[in-house]
Formats: sequence, C-alpha cells, structure tokens
Amino acid sequence: MKRLFTTLAVLFVGTITMATAQQANERPIYLDPDAPIEERVEDALSRMTLREKMAIIHAQSKFSAPGVPRLGISEIWCTDGPHGIRPEVMWDEWDQARWTNDSCIAYPALTCLAATWNRDCALSYGRSIGEEARFRDKDVLLGPGVNIYRTPLCGRNFEYMGEDPYLASEMVVPYVKGVQEQGVAACVKHYALNNEEQHRHTVDVSLSDRALREIYLPAFKAAVTEGGAWSLMGSYNKYRGTYACHNHRLLVEILKQEWGFDGAVISDWGGVHSTEEAIHNGLDMEFGTWTDGLREGASNAYDNYYMALPYLKLIESGEVGTEELDDKVRRVLRLTFRTAMNNDKPYGAMCSEAHSLAARQIAEEGIVLLKNHNNNLPIAPDAKRILVVGENAIKMMTVGGGSSSLKVKYECSPLDGIRNYYGDDVEVLYARGYVGDVTGDYNGVVTGQNLVDKRSPKRLIAEAVEMAREADHVIFIGGLNKSNNQDCEGTDRRSLDLPYNQDAVIEELAEVSDNLTVVFVSGNAVAMPWIDEVESVVQVWYLGSEAGNAIANVLSGEVNPSGKLPFTFGVKLEDYMAHAEGAKFPNPKKVFYHDGIFVGYRGFEKREIEPLFAFGHGLSYTTFEYSNLQLSATEAVAGNRIDETILEATVTITNRGDRAGKEVVQLYISDVESSVIRPKKELKGFEKVELQPGESKTITFSLTPEALAFYNENSSSWTVESGEYRVLISASSADIRLDKSFTLR
Ligand code: BGC
Repeated sequence: MKRLFTTLAVLFVGTITMATAQQANERPIYLDPDAPIEERVEDALSRMTLREKMAIIHAQSKFSAPGVPRLGISEIWCTDGPHGIRPEVMWDEWDQARWTNDSCIAYPALTCLAATWNRDCALSYGRSIGEEARFRDKDVLLGPGVNIYRTPLCGRNFEYMGEDPYLASEMVVPYVKGVQEQGVAACVKHYALNNEEQHRHTVDVSLSDRALREIYLPAFKAAVTEGGAWSLMGSYNKYRGTYACHNHRLLVEILKQEWGFDGAVISDWGGVHSTEEAIHNGLDMEFGTWTDGLREGASNAYDNYYMALPYLKLIESGEVGTEELDDKVRRVLRLTFRTAMNNDKPYGAMCSEAHSLAARQIAEEGIVLLKNHNNNLPIAPDAKRILVVGENAIKMMTVGGGSSSLKVKYECSPLDGIRNYYGDDVEVLYARGYVGDVTGDYNGVVTGQNLVDKRSPKRLIAEAVEMAREADHVIFIGGLNKSNNQDCEGTDRRSLDLPYNQDAVIEELAEVSDNLTVVFVSGNAVAMPWIDEVESVVQVWYLGSEAGNAIANVLSGEVNPSGKLPFTFGVKLEDYMAHAEGAKFPNPKKVFYHDGIFVGYRGFEKREIEPLFAFGHGLSYTTFEYSNLQLSATEAVAGNRIDETILEATVTITNRGDRAGKEVVQLYISDVESSVIRPKKELKGFEKVELQPGESKTITFSLTPEALAFYNENSSSWTVESGEYRVLISASSADIRLDKSFTLR
C-alpha cells in the first residue's frame, strides 16, 4: 500500500476591507495599533497613490525602504545579520558611517549554533540578537542563513547550519521565533541553492526535484511554516535558468502557494536582473541593485531600480496591470505593521550582560571535542606551564568574511581567554608558529591589531618547538580565517587543506609534545593528515565576543564539551559526493547537482567511505550509556496526516562518568525496503539531555509519517511506503547504540 501526501497549497487570501469613509477626526484604521493587521494593510493600500506604492517596494538607501511619509507609514530598516548587528553604513555606500554607538555583541557563527543541537540555544540566540536589532531600531534582520553544506569549499558555510535538513530545520525555527518576539522580522536567506560563492552571481543550478525537496528546501520551509518568518531573501544564483530572486517556481509556486508565505520576499543586494520577471515571479522588495551613490546623474539613482521607474512605465503604458503591485505592497505593509509600526514590541537592549552570557553559553555548547586520546583534555590541574601556538589564538575574527563582518564592543581572543582563566597560577606562554593573513579591516572597521611578523616559517616553527619541549600542555590554535578563499563570502576555498603551512607546525609540535591539543577556529572541515600524531582535536568555530572565555572553559574542564558536528569531516575532498570523480567546483555557469540527495553523511554512507569525523560526532569528558530502547508498538498505521504521531520510541541515557555532562541523543530512520533508492539512514529526531554523574533520564521521541517519507517525483508529493523501518538510536551518525524495527501497515 502506498500513501500519497499531497502538499497542501495554501493560498494567502487577505481580508478585503476597503477603506470606508473616515470621519474627519477619526484615526484611520491603518494607524490603529489595535486593529487587525489585515485591516490596516487594506486601509493603507486604499489610500496610497501609484507612485507611493512603487516607492515602498524598493530601496531608498543601502539598507532602507522609504515607507509613505505623506501617510506617516514608517520606513523599513534592514541590517545584517546573522551573527550580530552590522555597524551603520553610509546612505549610499558600503563604508561604515563611523558612528560611535553601534558596536555590538558578536554571537557565535551559525555553524556553532547548529553544533549545539540545542533548540533552547537557538531561541536564546534569536532573542538576544533580536533585542540588539530592536534597540538599534532595525525592522528586518538579514538572517539566519540555512543553505545546506554541500561542499566544504563553500566560503560561506560558516554562516549556515550544516549539512542536514532536519537539524537545520529544528534549529532555524526557534531562532526565527526569538528574533520576531522583538518585533523584528527574520529574513531567512539565501533562498535557494546558494551553495558556492565565487560565481554566485552567474551560476545556474539544476538538480532533481527530490534533492530540492528532501535536502535544500526543508529548512526554509520550516522557517516559514513553523517559524512564521515574516521575510525571506532570494539568492543570487539562478535555478533552472532563472535568477532565484525572481524565480516563479521557487517564489510563487513553492514559497507562496504551497507554503502559504504571507511575508515579503526581499532580493539579495544586487540580485535583481529583470523588471518583467520581478513583477511576475514573486519578488516583493528590491535592494542593492548597483548604484554609484547619487553620482549617476539621475535625480535619484534608486529610481533606476528594476522595480522603480521601469515598472511604473509599464503600468502607465498599460502593458502591465496593478494586481501584482498591490500584492507586493500588501506584503510590504504587512511587514511594516509587524515590525516598524508594531506598538507592542519591546524596547530591546544592546550589549547587555545577558547578551554576553547567552553568547558564551551558546559558544560553550557548540564547541566539539573531536578527539581526546588518553584523556589529554581537560588540561591537567597540575599543569604549571601551558604553551599556546598559532595565529588564530590572537587574531580578531569578527572583522572580515563579508556582510556578516561586525564592529564589536569587545572580542576575547583564545589566548586572552586562557590567560584570564588561569591567572597567575599557571604560566601561559605564546609562540606565533605561522603567519597567515595579517590584514584586519572590512569597510572601514579595523581590528587595530598589528600582526606583522617577518620571521621565516622555519624560525617560527623552531621557536614554537623549543618552547613546546618545556610545556606541560601545548595548545595549537589555527584553522581558517575570514580572508578571501578561506571562510569568506564571495569566494570559495581552493582545497580542503589547512593554509599557511599549519600542517608542518602541527607535525613538528607533535614530535616533541605528548600533550598536544589542536584547536580549530573555522566554519568548515579541514584535512588532518597528522591526526594519529596528536592527542586532542577541538573544533571551536567562530565564537564571537566570548570566544576566548568559552574556549578556556572547555579546555580547562570548567565546562564539559557537548557540541556535535553539524557536518561531516572527510579525509579528502573527493570523499564528499559533490566532489566525486573530479567534479568541477566552483562553477561559473551551469551546474547539475549529480550528488542528488546524497549530501553529507548520506553520500559517505552510500559510497561506504569512512569519514575523518562523522556527522553528529562529538566527545565528552564523561561517558554515556544508552539502554532500554522501547517502541510503543511493533506495527504502526499511517493515518491521513503526515505530522500525526504514529509511534513513540523511548530510550534511557545514563551518565557513567564522574562529571556532569550533556549528551545529544540522535534518532535516525532507515527504510529497510523501498521502491526508490534511499539514504542508508536519515536524522529524524534528537534531544540534548543534561545528566549528573550516575543520573539516568528517559527520552521519548514521537515519530510521524513525515519521518518516513520520501519525495516522489512521479506524483510530485511526499510518499510513505508500508514495510519495515529501523529506528537507530545513536551518539553520532557512525555510532549506533541501539536499534529496533517496526512495520508500517
Ligand atoms: C549578501 C547578503 C547580505 C546582503 C546585505 C549580500 O551580498 O549575500 O547575505 O545580507 O549582501 O549586506
């Protein structure tokens, strides 16, 4: 028996309440904060002139749209996103405006948030950054980003939530809700298929419908249908020949008709290329189309936008009606009433102690202990001399990387964090080890650090090795940075290897130290040819303002690590299916995703390639025992709803060590027999539990047909087949602890 779940097409239908004649002294409905939003929208729409309508659907400056001054309808102000609130920029230029009161708290990059596997962290992240956006009077936060980690070379992976659609979906929803509680719209980006950077403005992506639906769209869908996102950003690339910012299939058919999105589609900055397509294919607001400030000779360069005078002309000549325009205007007004003209929104806060605490807690929960031979970590309490080596121990990482670059109130470096933690009790020495990129500025925000070091690589290594001989514990802190061709928007990495001679530094340190810990500051996987020679490896991501404090807390054992990888670390590049058989990357023109649904662990498992570190992997300073997996039935029946619970799985987790700790318990589903090829298993549930030494907790997972479904390209719908399914309870995708089957009738 086969069941078909046809995706519900929910067409948004606004309540049409034409503006009634108002009494002269009566407050118009659109200004009444207590009136239902749809009534306010219709009332405002009915009062606007054609030119006013045209004005609110495109920018008036780099980051704002004008509203309707005559009617007192507010401007809309956007800000990047997604890790902190971007410093103010000039009206028409990217350069910072040199305000002195726009420094923010930098939160950990979204890869770190995903690595917490903790929905509460995502909620506190959204609330905290939303409060800062609100305090700075922003209406739209340009984030979070949920593009899927298809290849470790994508320069922008650090801004996203990893390779798995279920994990990204679960984490994006609380983030969106937390932001929007503050009366600030989340703008989920970059919809869709922006999986490489170098040629993001030209690449034309094609892929199977199944891969689109199963891998690349779920997190966007969750952000919209569960998170209730008020805005969404189109991506730069094309999808099947048409730019994503005005792509009928993505924006009209899927986003608006199927998912019932009632918010505004905002273009990526400079992502619009055609007035006709923008009119008909679902774009609502145009931003960032190139203007040379106001030096173009036009009275207002923004009039040259695709959705400005060119659109107006088409309407005035009768070539295009106003139906599409009214739909766009309604969406912009709805966004305005939800944010800028929302009288119920809180006041927000900037750089509060609570924000620093949230940033630190998220950072601590996202740090992943990848390897820990001989319990090398935490650092022994009797260590008297610690040597820290590497540029990333001292380099500011909140400046650079593209539009997510920040001007921070403070940033605690790893070295400072370690020194602060140990105070005078332990001697903490530093050696540079290698020189990476010593620059540090982005659009006028400068780190002020002088990292220039002219010594030769040989001398730098020799110095570090000499000092390592005398140290009780050596901590190498390296990885990538936010420079071009590292973790950086607009460029991609050129290989999986560590840059700047770091492999040589690590290898030489490993020769003289039996207590070597390698710490990676990065948003991407790197190759580790020396993995067997080092004792510990810790993945710490870009952690923002509280980086050093969080790292010191984990290395010292003050905090027990509990992060798990949100993407697979391969041994070599070709291990990733996107790069198999020498596939070209990046692609300037056309690319077909030949890896289909086999992204990340799905691809590694299909080709039986052992990863360096598996998706979902992460160690702790304690050990957890998994026991007593029970299914509520051995047979289940799928009802009519895809999201109805059909079965429960319970499992007991016990902390068998002598430290408190948190464990992420993962549930994967394996379809034993299927009419189509399926991944060996797929993540369909997870819970993070905190346990004291000796403590046990029982976790219950609810399973729905959705967890068993695949996207059926023949029927263009989600299909659940009857038969046997395995429930795998795991500590990572490669570490299955318990396993039980049930049959779906
Ligand atoms: C980026 C977006 C960003 C926008 C505004 C674009 O280049 O792709 O993510 O929000 O600029 O800064």
